[in-house]
Amino acid sequence: MIVYLNGEYVDESEAKVSIDDRGFLFADGVYEVAHVYGGTLFEWRRHRDRLRHSLEVVRIRGVDLDELDRAADTLLEHFRAEMARRNEPADGSLYVEVTRGAHPRAHLFPDPPVRPTVVMWIRPVEPIPAELVERGVKVITVPDDRWSKVWIKTVGLLSNVLAKQYAHDRGAFEAIYVRDGIVTECTSANLFIVQQGTLRTAPVSNYILPGVTREVVLEIAQEEGLPVNLTPFGVDEVYTADEVFLTGTLTEVLPITQVDDVRIGTRAGPVALRLRRLLHERAGVLKRSST
Ligand SMILES: Cc1ncc(COP(=O)(O)O)c(C=O)c1O
Repeated sequence: MIVYLNGEYVDESEAKVSIDDRGFLFADGVYEVAHVYGGTLFEWRRHRDRLRHSLEVVRIRGVDLDELDRAADTLLEHFRAEMARRNEPADGSLYVEVTRGAHPRAHLFPDPPVRPTVVMWIRPVEPIPAELVERGVKVITVPDDRWSKVWIKTVGLLSNVLAKQYAHDRGAFEAIYVRDGIVTECTSANLFIVQQGTLRTAPVSNYILPGVTREVVLEIAQEEGLPVNLTPFGVDEVYTADEVFLTGTLTEVLPITQVDDVRIGTRAGPVALRLRRLLHERAGVLKRSST
């Protein structure tokens, strides 16, 4: 695999970052994950805008976003060629991370600033099995013990990692974060419920990551004339919802059929499946899964 690292294209085995890198020492960095469908980036503009915003709020300066666009194009070219050579679909995930750079460990920002570390690569992804989509997944609830700035897409994801592993160890696909009785989101996806035909998801605040897929699904809902309610809701409303589903760049729209010990329907709900199909249409995926 080819990796973009600080302006160079190197083989994965050559892509090395300093032990003084502040991403490594302090999780002092931000990132994005974008979906590549059939060799093309989906919603790159939105991911790029969110990255620019993340960089601004954590005050990492000196990153040329146009250069990142060019790097993405170059990596896409490599990726398409490699997947064609393997005779596999060019479906992947683009990962880009920017840290405050390498400097002997001290909490204060390096002064004068050092060059940010910028890495980007594209790896193949498998589609979520159709059978899983149709059956729906189980999720569990956990206390939201994250900091109060989760809207910044930082690489500081230890809470998310621990919560996802906790869910996995209990046979669940994801963990729903609950803060003061209010549902925020999941460890790597946003959460939606359907109540009598109305879509609900947590409003944008400092307690959720404003997901690109969440935004796209809300746009699709508007186009389709589906009512949307963006007021906060609690766990009881999830338990009694007609449908529950996840949204995320790689998760896409994924139906949930069990939350803790409560069954939500017996199989994937029609609204989730419809939104999933419409998301796939937007992404130019016509016949990748049976849904
Ligand atoms: C905590 C969290 N919430 C929500 C999302 C979904 O965001 P997006 O749709 O932009 O992938 C992610 C994605 O990684 C995430 O990590």
